[in-house]
Amino acid sequence: NGAGSEGQDNKAGQFSRWGFIMAAIGSAVGLGNMWKFPYITGKYGGAAFFLVFIICLIVVGLPVLLAEMAVGRGGRGNASTSMVRLSGKKAWGGFGFISIFGSFMIFSYYAVVAGWTLHYAYLSFTGQLFASNDFGATFGDFIGGSLPVFWQLIVVLLTAWVVAAGISSGIERFNKILIPGLVVLLIILVIRSLTLDGAGEGVSFFLDPDFSKLTPTAILVALGHAFFSLSLGMGVMITYGAYVSKKQSLSGAALAVGLGDLLYAFLAGLIIFPTTFAFDLEPTQGAGLVFVVLPVAFSAMPLGAWFGGLFFILLAVAALTSAVSLLEVAVAFVMEKWKTSRTKAVWTTGIIAFLVGLPSAMSVGGAVDFLNFGGKSFFDWMDFLSSNVLLPIGGLIVTIFAGWVWKGAYEEADLTPGWYRVWRFTLRYIAPILVVGVLLISAGVISE
Ligand code: PHE
Repeated sequence: NGAGSEGQDNKAGQFSRWGFIMAAIGSAVGLGNMWKFPYITGKYGGAAFFLVFIICLIVVGLPVLLAEMAVGRGGRGNASTSMVRLSGKKAWGGFGFISIFGSFMIFSYYAVVAGWTLHYAYLSFTGQLFASNDFGATFGDFIGGSLPVFWQLIVVLLTAWVVAAGISSGIERFNKILIPGLVVLLIILVIRSLTLDGAGEGVSFFLDPDFSKLTPTAILVALGHAFFSLSLGMGVMITYGAYVSKKQSLSGAALAVGLGDLLYAFLAGLIIFPTTFAFDLEPTQGAGLVFVVLPVAFSAMPLGAWFGGLFFILLAVAALTSAVSLLEVAVAFVMEKWKTSRTKAVWTTGIIAFLVGLPSAMSVGGAVDFLNFGGKSFFDWMDFLSSNVLLPIGGLIVTIFAGWVWKGAYEEADLTPGWYRVWRFTLRYIAPILVVGVLLISAGVISE
């Protein structure tokens, strides 16, 4: 019966040790690390923000990550049924569903941005990207047209194809190949960017902190991003946790995933900031940073078309491994809820997600503007509601659940008694209070 028994009884429905770590890193490392992280770091002042992000990742992110993995393995179900089983209370199913809904929403527009990166890889390798020097116009024309829908469809199909192949021969295999491959690409690009003339200024912007730039808002934004970057609050790590063997150490896995995510953000920063500064560009451009600013740099460097192409492929790969995890959350739910096969669950969920994503694909560039209201496009609304509202709410729910409600968290998390106390204290008090702060920013009570 669905994901529950698939996780328990069937080897093909279970991750290997290494496979779980790769899949969880694959989920964590994504557009968050390489598209969002650089532009918010640019916006909130560089190195000091990065440092706060690291602290949030370790102090709050890791404990919540471990909590989610433990809930999944303990409950052996999807993000909703796991909590029902562990608490014995039906009401938790509704709370769990919030994050399933959230990850479905993220998936719908995430596939759109992942599609842009594929298009940009194509444009860069073929040299078409460099036919004009006005990269702002190139980007604007692209997202304002209908091509994004084509690429969105490609991403949804690729993701569905991987998820349909199941846990060990689909998700695990895909991540085991691509995640190590990603490191190789990253290192090539880090070497390229660090050897550019004038790279030093970018390195110090990224690594030499100026604490006068730090505001309370920046701290909460860093925390919100640590959650997004670790794929927390969206049921992903609960869902993946259900496929983990009882023999694997979850605290070890959480540590590996946290460090892996940090490493990719660090390397991404070492690519983007030196490149941006070496060409006298501004790192504060917002969402267009990698699509508008970096092509300027690629067009001016030797072999830029190749480096640009590699960079966008890297972004696409990172995005796909995250998209796979987002889709799996909904698929695990559908399989268990309606007792359907994986294949059926994947294709129904995939098709609906594609349709729900269409307005995102078309609204962001202004092709369809009746969907834009309140100063935000439909795309921005989806991003805001899922990443800034549902995600912290989902995070709050899981911390309260593992900290206060579920009594078996101790056995599942395999921590020493001392670390267990630290963990529980964080889940009970520190994480919830800070996450409420993140929600107050979203509600506009604390201004950005
Ligand atoms: N962690 C992913 C990234 O950094 C995004 C994500 C968020 C994936 C939430 C799953 C759940 O891009």
